[in-house]
Amino acid sequence: MAEYEYETHDYDCVVVGAGGAGLRATLGMAEQGLRTACISKVFPTRSHTVAAQGGIAASLGNMGPDSWQWHMYDTVKGSDWLGDTDAMEYLAREAPKAVYELEHYGVPFSRTEEGKIYQRPFGGHTTEFGEGPAVQRTCAAADRTGHAILHTLYGQSLKQQAEFYIEYFAIDLIMSDDGVCTGVVCWKLDDGTMHVFNAKMVVLATGGYGRAYFSATSAHTCTGDGGGMVARAGLPLQDMEFVQFHPTGIYGSGCLITEGARGEGGYLTNSEGERFMERYAPNYKDLAPRDYVSRCMTMEIREGRGVGAGADHIHLNLNHLPKEALAERLPGISESAKIFAGVDVTKEPIPVLPTVHYNMGGIPTNYFGEVLNPTAKDPNAVVPGLMAVGEAGCASVHGANRLGSNSLIDLVVFGRAAAIRAGTVVDRNAAIPSTHKPSVDKAFDRFDTVRHANGANPTADLRLEMQKAMQEDAAVFRTDKTLKEGVEKMTAIAGKMDDIHVTDRSLVWNSDLMETLELGNLMPNALATIVGAEARKESRGAHAHEDYSTRDDENWRVHTIARVDGAKVELSHRPVITTPLSKEKDGGISLKKIAPKERTF
Ligand code: FUM
Repeated sequence: MAEYEYETHDYDCVVVGAGGAGLRATLGMAEQGLRTACISKVFPTRSHTVAAQGGIAASLGNMGPDSWQWHMYDTVKGSDWLGDTDAMEYLAREAPKAVYELEHYGVPFSRTEEGKIYQRPFGGHTTEFGEGPAVQRTCAAADRTGHAILHTLYGQSLKQQAEFYIEYFAIDLIMSDDGVCTGVVCWKLDDGTMHVFNAKMVVLATGGYGRAYFSATSAHTCTGDGGGMVARAGLPLQDMEFVQFHPTGIYGSGCLITEGARGEGGYLTNSEGERFMERYAPNYKDLAPRDYVSRCMTMEIREGRGVGAGADHIHLNLNHLPKEALAERLPGISESAKIFAGVDVTKEPIPVLPTVHYNMGGIPTNYFGEVLNPTAKDPNAVVPGLMAVGEAGCASVHGANRLGSNSLIDLVVFGRAAAIRAGTVVDRNAAIPSTHKPSVDKAFDRFDTVRHANGANPTADLRLEMQKAMQEDAAVFRTDKTLKEGVEKMTAIAGKMDDIHVTDRSLVWNSDLMETLELGNLMPNALATIVGAEARKESRGAHAHEDYSTRDDENWRVHTIARVDGAKVELSHRPVITTPLSKEKDGGISLKKIAPKERTF
């Protein structure tokens, strides 16, 4: 058994991750007087939320008529009828409150002439239950909305005396023998010390796992650490086959160009200079949802109408927009286009390509953020002491496809929901759980095995193999053949984790060891993705299966539940929740309105 000395910390709540969801949960818990710690592997304001550009959806109605019921309808349709209806209602209904709270906390939103929060159009957001024109629902702070939110939430959390453990890497969850989460084991990156956090509630807010792919808009820190810890604790992941490709990643670097660019009037063209989205989506054109636009772009390229020397990408045109509008509304992407594509957006189009952007799947939760461990008897059974929020979690509000700007609102609505729930389920007077030693020993044993790994596969080589396999075989379009090959490749790649090679054995600022632990987290996320995709014999949202080109609600309107153990994945299903929270007579949306139908734009 590996012997590591450790320091113990006791809290009511411990939040792992300091992005938008983690900070909103931390702030809400601290505000209620719960002793709260937030642990982050990066400085909080460097969390990936800082890169969120275009905005945060809420039906404020500042630019024209809007309602939470229209927002809910768009979210249901956007999810291709895979989202849980209670969670989708909660998101749309609570969104305005959550945004006004952000405003009062100090988020510097862009403003209209009358001083209201400025809102722009985004893909898939409409009026009149999808029958009316596009709506301006996305609240923006220029094209740096995530940056503005993150800095504000960090400042407010400090004001509420939340305690931050910065550059601490979470190794594993502490689980009691009867399945209660009682804490987390961490490695402090800058001095190599070990830390055990005991808590009444642990919240995983660790973000997505975009880095399982070769080209992603996600930061290199997006390594699915929460999903990895959950899988090792014997708990499941949900709907992992649904991976969002953002239509406009810069060709080559994958750097994000916000959908807000099309919201402000930008449009896509092919090699013939044609605005091809007019052909595919006559009503909403370039503002159709992301899954659809990404597929249309891919079809244009496949049919030989891509731009550039290799005819392998598409143009995003902004040069017809007034220079002042670009400077005021889109300064960040104007700079990114210059740096990463050498393009002056006032004069030339930006070369773009669909790029991995978001994971709809994650750790299954209810709409309070409580983690679920579905059983045959109870598909909504809660894991005591454990919550998951933000991209790490799967509530499931995005189902098979997320609408743009529904991510930032998901972070704050469910970060806030988790804090509200913790305020009722965490007993302030109860003792903090004592350290569950066997679980801590197990975490240190695994850590030590990785630290001294002396096998044949350097971490960087194995990571690249995984990223290439995922990019090739779990892409925008999938077939039985690519998915079968993907499962075979990924099973073999995951098997090589037992024969990995770590060169640096030190404990202080050991990036080799940290990247190997991160790869150990990426792997179960990637495996669950490809195995889940191979099993789903239909097309729905971001899962476009060329051998099964239509949606099959009779057999497949179900959540995929994946339990990953090493290189093995066991799949089962969990029913989709189809009942809203409010009845129609109380102002809720009618069941008829949200009944499944064909998704056209
Ligand atoms: O395009 C964007 O600004 C991204 C927003 C989102 O993913 O919600």
